[in-house]
Amino acid sequence: MSKRWYQENKRDPWRRDAKSKGYRARSAYKLKQIQEKFGIIRKGDCVLDIGCHPGGWTQVAVEEVGESGKVIGVDLLVTSPVEGAIVLVGDITHDSTIEEITREIAGGQLNCVISDISPRLTGRYDTDQAISLELSTMALDVASDLLVPGGGFVTKVFQGAGIEGLVEAAKLRFSSVGRFSPTASRSASSETYLVCQRKLPEPKKEGSAMQHVEDHLASIGIVVEEDIDQEIDPIVGFRKLPKKE
Ligand SMILES: C[S@@+](CC[C@H](N)C(=O)[O-])C[C@H]1O[C@@H](n2cnc3c(N)ncnc32)[C@H](O)[C@@H]1O
Repeated sequence: MSKRWYQENKRDPWRRDAKSKGYRARSAYKLKQIQEKFGIIRKGDCVLDIGCHPGGWTQVAVEEVGESGKVIGVDLLVTSPVEGAIVLVGDITHDSTIEEITREIAGGQLNCVISDISPRLTGRYDTDQAISLELSTMALDVASDLLVPGGGFVTKVFQGAGIEGLVEAAKLRFSSVGRFSPTASRSASSETYLVCQRKLPEPKKEGSAMQHVEDHLASIGIVVEEDIDQEIDPIVGFRKLPKKE
């Protein structure tokens, strides 16, 4: 056991607890705290977990839905099987992944979408935050398209430019939208969770959440362009540029 591992474990009670209770990631406690406060997952629900690797949230979702429920997890990375869940490998930005998820829902209703989606961090906050915003917005569009009216949605977002656009887009689709920062998030973390309850039968305004967020970014002077050469080539991500005069 390395000295560093020992020190981190000693300092981080969530990590220690997750290990002792058999959760694959300390992040399981973030979903537990969201669930405790908002009761977003109900017994018997069908739940989609976007960005599920290594499977901590999927494990918690399986516990919450019980035997009559269903949990579908999806990630770019291969997730080892989670008992009681279906885990898929796929990119949530691809139509083929959405088709696979829809096949797994198998004509039933999707009641809840949970998303702890996060980009591979580059260490440059602006870049990471922009990519995270785009991924979370994508998750909102998926939730909007697949959820049953009345369904719930949770997504991680990094604090920063454009987040208000995402909150607005969520408010057009859900009757209740709030932000929540679980104490299980690391204290230095800039992440927060958007908790959206009771999906409306129809959005209050036409157009995708992505379009709404792009329009919001433009309104605060951030131009989103598609094809720009840059050193980092994220799979997705808003590219922020100063507004051209
Ligand atoms: C913080 S981890 C999730 C941890 C998980 N909630 C748990 O408790 O074990 C974020 C995940 O989002 C996934 N991800 C990022 N972009 C994605 C995409 N486009 N489609 C699917 N998953 C993606 C990453 O591969 C990563 O595993």
